[in-house]
Amino acid sequence: MARILVFAGSARRDSLNKKLARAAAQFAREAGAEATFVDLDDYPIPVYHGDLEAASGMPEAARRLREVFLAHDALLIASPENNSSVSSLLKNTIDWLSRDVDDGKGDSSGLAPWRGKVAGLMAASPGGFGGIRALPHLRQILAALGVTVLGTQVAVPKAHEAFAADGSLADERVAKSVRALAAAVAEASRKLHA
Ligand SMILES: Cc1cc2nc3c(=O)[nH]c(=O)nc-3n(C[C@H](O)[C@H](O)[C@H](O)COP(=O)(O)O)c2cc1C
Repeated sequence: MARILVFAGSARRDSLNKKLARAAAQFAREAGAEATFVDLDDYPIPVYHGDLEAASGMPEAARRLREVFLAHDALLIASPENNSSVSSLLKNTIDWLSRDVDDGKGDSSGLAPWRGKVAGLMAASPGGFGGIRALPHLRQILAALGVTVLGTQVAVPKAHEAFAADGSLADERVAKSVRALAAAVAEASRKLHA
């Protein structure tokens, strides 16, 4: 069974991307995968600073999140679009989690949380483009870390109108594309790790 880690690049309580990530996690479960949603607000990680790393290594919250990554084989990520790119929270999280810990060998390599994983990318924005401009940047970052990023991606425009009160996607066409992406990640991960 594919083990998919699902998260959003926003810590905001009412984050549209968290809603999208939660909806995608549910679709992944319906596709037969094990899906874990994590809220980055539960992992308060300082802005990457080389002096901080040299003095005290990887922050405790980043180490905890790193362990969660190691326990999964695929990713579903919903990124906000900030100034036409990924959010600083998402980039900071990736930066910390791409650093070696301890001797950097095996699972302590900075690539260990990423290498060999399959990822599906999503974005949600109140704007008309749905955050689509952030996704090529995220794709490039993840590919360089050894992640196989699926070609299909989903951007949800006018996302403040996209969710029903229960968190489900109100528009069936949008729901269908998120469902298809979640199923594709589950299937690709199953095949890759068979
Ligand atoms: C600094 C900043 C820059 C932003 N730039 C963009 C942008 O380039 N394109 C866009 O569609 N929305 C942009 N937004 C709006 C975000 O898409 C919107 O705040 C969104 O709700 C954030 O995601 P969240 O709801 O998951 O927290 C920007 C917001 C901030 C705070």
